[in-house]
Amino acid sequence: MSKGAASLSAVIDLDVPGPVISRHLYGHFAEHLGHCIYGGFWVGEDSDVPNEGGIRKDVVDALRALDIPNLRWPGGCFADEYHWMDGIGPREERPRMVNTHWGDVEENNHFGTHEFLALCELLGTEPYVSANVGSGSVRETSDWVEYLNREGDSPMARLRAENGRSEPWGVSFFGIGNEPWGCGGNLRAEQYAPMARQHATYARDHGENRLYRIAAGASDADYSWTETLMKQVASGLGDRNPRGIFQAVSFHYYTMSGAWGDKGSATDFSGDEYWTTVRRAQHVRELIAGHSAVMDAYDPTKKLGLALDEWGTWWNVEPGTNPGFLYQQNTMRDALVAAIHFDAFHDHADRLRLANIAQTVNVLQAMVLTDGNQMVRTPTYHVFEMNKDHHDARALAVHPLGGSPTREVDGVDIPTLSTSASTKDGRVTISLTNLDLAAEARVELSLRGARIGAVSGRILSASDVADHNTAEAPDAVSPQQYSAVRVDDELLTMDVPPGSFVTLKLETA
Ligand code: AHR
Repeated sequence: MSKGAASLSAVIDLDVPGPVISRHLYGHFAEHLGHCIYGGFWVGEDSDVPNEGGIRKDVVDALRALDIPNLRWPGGCFADEYHWMDGIGPREERPRMVNTHWGDVEENNHFGTHEFLALCELLGTEPYVSANVGSGSVRETSDWVEYLNREGDSPMARLRAENGRSEPWGVSFFGIGNEPWGCGGNLRAEQYAPMARQHATYARDHGENRLYRIAAGASDADYSWTETLMKQVASGLGDRNPRGIFQAVSFHYYTMSGAWGDKGSATDFSGDEYWTTVRRAQHVRELIAGHSAVMDAYDPTKKLGLALDEWGTWWNVEPGTNPGFLYQQNTMRDALVAAIHFDAFHDHADRLRLANIAQTVNVLQAMVLTDGNQMVRTPTYHVFEMNKDHHDARALAVHPLGGSPTREVDGVDIPTLSTSASTKDGRVTISLTNLDLAAEARVELSLRGARIGAVSGRILSASDVADHNTAEAPDAVSPQQYSAVRVDDELLTMDVPPGSFVTLKLETA
């Protein structure tokens, strides 16, 4: 039941910019899982699929349009059983291993450190490397950082040069383990924290390079994990070590319509499942605020960042696919989930400094799906592309006058219009998401503090929220021009269609 008119009147003060929305909130994640790396990014040099040094060209071309700011690798759970030295040197001589987390399949280590960093160079993205705390040693962590970042003559720099790369890569983002409360060692926070301090200590800064060390954090609303971690990692922000041992603390949150045992279908879902999905996606706002509040108690000046380095939808795998490969379709519903997350990220840009959707290719809420030499962009891909102008822009608060539209579902009022805005280089970007699948949303925005020039818009919508893209219909859900905005002096008025995502670009003077 719609409650009240489906409309929003709001004020945006264009001359009161807030914190910078780090472009790193638009980060990605590539794990050795299913066909994310093998078949997704990596096909090998001898493949019929067009590639550059073994890396798929179509995937790189598609992703370059997203201006991906950082790419997390090699996991996820895989990171804590990955021994990086197995992934360097001549490919045919690399030791093999079993990927016990994901499908119990053999990993040939053909995609290793050099291949990952070549991928980052092709994408124009910053690497985010996750160290193995669960089953690795402090020495492995220390050597990996030396191999990645040391210039000149040293054992690891020489080894790197022998393997064909004389210059260091200068990796900054460095994760200290992953989900240590689960696949990363089944540790308690009290056990993980000192281990993390030790690994982080020996993950040295080499030369001018400065590591951004990320402590592996909580799942969902486990605020006590964050609290224990903050007690242990926020110390060290004193005079002797002004940068601290860590620069960020992470947490993970996934959206599903069911429970872990039956997460719900990606494409075949009811109205109730749709609204459960929306509510759970909106819950991310509360979680960011909750973890931030815990951090505020130990780090009131916000030196440490919060990193949501795994987020996105997690559905049952597509029928007939390997349950350990986490391959799922991606519909307009997934696009709306992404849009909800970004609005929450923008509103918490003061503390949230990094976020990584899981995962980029063929796994969970992917940007692109591949099948042999075909590739399809998903609806989620388009949200990332349409929101690009928010990267490194300053957040603008959207102040509703007299409430926002809601819909009552099972006695709960769910906000049905999600918004955010930002400004950069004299251009304002506004994102609007109408989550109501039955009613248009009338939006009136009063833009104060600057003169409005040219306005343009794009819309992502579908006739059914379960619509998705396939090899046969790759553009079934793709952005179109949106010209339904009326501009009257400082007032913008528009109707946002049901179940759609709109971005507006405004020139200001
Ligand atoms: O993204 C898939 C898995 O989800 C990751 O490997 C793990 O960190 C999380 O549980």
